[in-house]
Amino acid sequence: MTETRGTHPSEPAGPTGNDLHLDLPATGGRRAALMTALREAIRSGRLAPGTRLPPYRALATDLGLARNTAAEAYAELVAEGWLTARQGSGTTVAERAEPVPPARARRPSPRPGPRHDLRQGQPDASSFPRTGWLAAARRALTVAPNEAFGPGDPQGRHELRTVLADYLARARGVRTDPDRIVICSGFAHALRLLFDGARPVLPPAENGPLAVEAYGLGFHRGLLAAAGVTAVPLPIDEQGALVDELARHRDVRTALLTPAHQFPTGGPLHPGRRAAVVDWARGRGGLILEDDYDGEFRYDRQPVGAVQGLDPERVVYLGSTSKSLTPALRLGWMVLPDHLVDRVLAAKGEREGWASALDQLTLAEFIDSGGYDRHVRRMRRRYRDRRDQLVAALAASAPHVEVSGIAAGLHAVLRLEPGTERSVLKAAAYRGLAVDGLADFRHPEIDPAAMPAVDGLVVGYATPPDHAYAAAVEALCAILPPSV
Ligand SMILES: Cc1ncc(COP(=O)(O)O)c(C=O)c1O
Repeated sequence: MTETRGTHPSEPAGPTGNDLHLDLPATGGRRAALMTALREAIRSGRLAPGTRLPPYRALATDLGLARNTAAEAYAELVAEGWLTARQGSGTTVAERAEPVPPARARRPSPRPGPRHDLRQGQPDASSFPRTGWLAAARRALTVAPNEAFGPGDPQGRHELRTVLADYLARARGVRTDPDRIVICSGFAHALRLLFDGARPVLPPAENGPLAVEAYGLGFHRGLLAAAGVTAVPLPIDEQGALVDELARHRDVRTALLTPAHQFPTGGPLHPGRRAAVVDWARGRGGLILEDDYDGEFRYDRQPVGAVQGLDPERVVYLGSTSKSLTPALRLGWMVLPDHLVDRVLAAKGEREGWASALDQLTLAEFIDSGGYDRHVRRMRRRYRDRRDQLVAALAASAPHVEVSGIAAGLHAVLRLEPGTERSVLKAAAYRGLAVDGLADFRHPEIDPAAMPAVDGLVVGYATPPDHAYAAAVEALCAILPPSV
């Protein structure tokens, strides 16, 4: 006799053990159908050796079968060697029930990392403040209102926007209130939002070609190209972008800059140029996109404040936790001129589709409790020590190599003799040292007459964990060519 689901006809049936999805063939008896489905799941590898199956009673309930049918199917599969039944530990997939190997691997297995890693782009992953973050998450989620666990507000949690408005004013000189902040999933997401080709966010006047610095991140250039944006390169020197050049490009109304710390060459934008670019934006009716990716990390003096503070209506300020905490968090913020807030929100849609509201609450609590400031200060000391170690090692073993961009940030630039960058990179790869060449960051369309190419290395001194740093620096010194 077939049993009904549950003990009472009106009682909802529900799984009573681990969930197990099985498609029973419609033909044949129920017991045979169940055995076929289980064999198939084991053979295909979907049920790996050692996997614990639900108790037969629970499986019978879930599949609408008689208990006896499920019990007999299990017993027969044990007899056939597909399953193992042990008193007290239930029924598991037998260790010998090897699945058929898949025809081909879906993705190549990840290659082992380099022996020494000095690539730019990430903070020391081993220094993520796990304990402080977990404590902040516990506090934040304990007091979060129920509404926080619903679909998110595309502007971002007000708790985070409120503490960010204070933090950015205090630490970065940004002038804003929480209503002009929109939370996003890092800088890359902000770029995608602003330049979504299908639904342009920037008003037509600001949505023409975009001026970018002649050296920058190729990944960001790729995002802009994919959105159909023409990126016009501006030459740079040790005082940052030559913003006077903007006047030559009559069709450019928007400029993307890294004023606190030119990426990757490392200088801050000269104060005169900061004022000049704001004047340009006012005169042209244009906009500055300020990428403040690592502004907290300046070692010998106070951090350079944000250009946004000079004119909040002409600057979109873009910040991120990718350098200060971890790129794994995917959290960032846009501080917008008034006229762009609704446009950006419309582009985000009705619900937050990117940035986890629970991580936003945790970050708000982490900042509010002082944990973020403490972490940044601790990392600033640690990175400054590493920078000093790097500079001292180079002075001792390669004094002819000029090091620049060391006043701030998480990377330094080493100048190489013209024409030697590729061979130095080859030597690095041979020694198992991963490091970036300067050429990778150069805009392919910059006119060499306006800005000659420079050979160099971009050394990410924040990347390795502490214990691996000295060996990485030693490997770097060993591949630098002797002076000519
Ligand atoms: C130049 C530059 N801008 C912005 C960012 C931040 O990007 P995201 O927030 O998308 O991780 C980075 C990397 O951390 C960067 O190197």
